[in-house]
Amino acid sequence: MRRLIIDTDPGVDDAFAIALACASPDVDLMAVTTVAGNIGIEHTTRNALNLLALCGREDVPVAAGAHRPFSRPVRGDTAHGVDGLGGHAHALPTSKATGDPRDAITLLKDTLEASEGPVTVIAIGPMTNVALLLAAHPGVKPKIDRLVIMGGGIAGGNITPSAEFNVWVDPEAARRVLVEEDVPVTLVPLDVTMRCAVGDEWLGQLADHPVGRELVAMTPHYRAFYKETFGRDDFVMHDAIAVAEAINPGLLRTTPLRLEVDCTDGPGSGATIADRRTPPQPDERFVDVALDADIDALRAYILGELAR
Ligand code: BDR
Ligand code: CA
Repeated sequence: MRRLIIDTDPGVDDAFAIALACASPDVDLMAVTTVAGNIGIEHTTRNALNLLALCGREDVPVAAGAHRPFSRPVRGDTAHGVDGLGGHAHALPTSKATGDPRDAITLLKDTLEASEGPVTVIAIGPMTNVALLLAAHPGVKPKIDRLVIMGGGIAGGNITPSAEFNVWVDPEAARRVLVEEDVPVTLVPLDVTMRCAVGDEWLGQLADHPVGRELVAMTPHYRAFYKETFGRDDFVMHDAIAVAEAINPGLLRTTPLRLEVDCTDGPGSGATIADRRTPPQPDERFVDVALDADIDALRAYILGELAR
């Protein structure tokens, strides 16, 4: 049984990611924590609660975390619509759970401390909560076997030419986690997620299932945004790919890289810069960056789990 915690900002692709963790019989989903990102913290928290209700997992504790980045204004992502779920949030079941009274950082700390074994923490929104956790409670680090993070783009960005959204929102937090900390990280950047898109046939098969039908109903607004912005007519499942890797370590092909995060306000703000000149030395901080995968196998795996 793989112990997982998800830190998230739902988010259409976050919804697929949460559903994937709930669908897998090999997962112990210990907690879900929320962060401001795609939309404000009230929406991301309500969406997380209702998505867990949709998946029949109202027992999973949910706690709200940072309502803004370290030192930058709140900046959302219009790809996810006014409610964060492509205008479909109202159609989800209303969770009977009220949310954990603790804040996200405390829930993360308590869950990790109480765990009988190592836990994989998956971050699929801005890294604000994770950076705060590691700074405030370094004693929990030995309980984290690795952080699996959807974020960054080595070859380029999505929200700007150079920056990926999750890093761009809170580059200072991302720098703490990816450069300054020493917890093992597998980074799942745009380089692999933009390739793992699915089309109408895949979504049609998913829509034959009760949870899948609701997930698919969240995608039209997001797809329209991608069509207008990137000229592509498919659905890119960024965050679900990070969860797939967390459940199946090694599913993605990784390369150890030294990273830097651009924390300036210039055109590179929020960029993840990889030093590919030489391999990291044994005493250097590196991150395992997923640059490649068997894309067809990945698509088939995610559909197989979500359509269970
Ligand atoms: C990331 O940003 C958000 O829009 C998505 O939910 C994903 O976590 C992709 O850049
Ligand atoms: Ca997200």
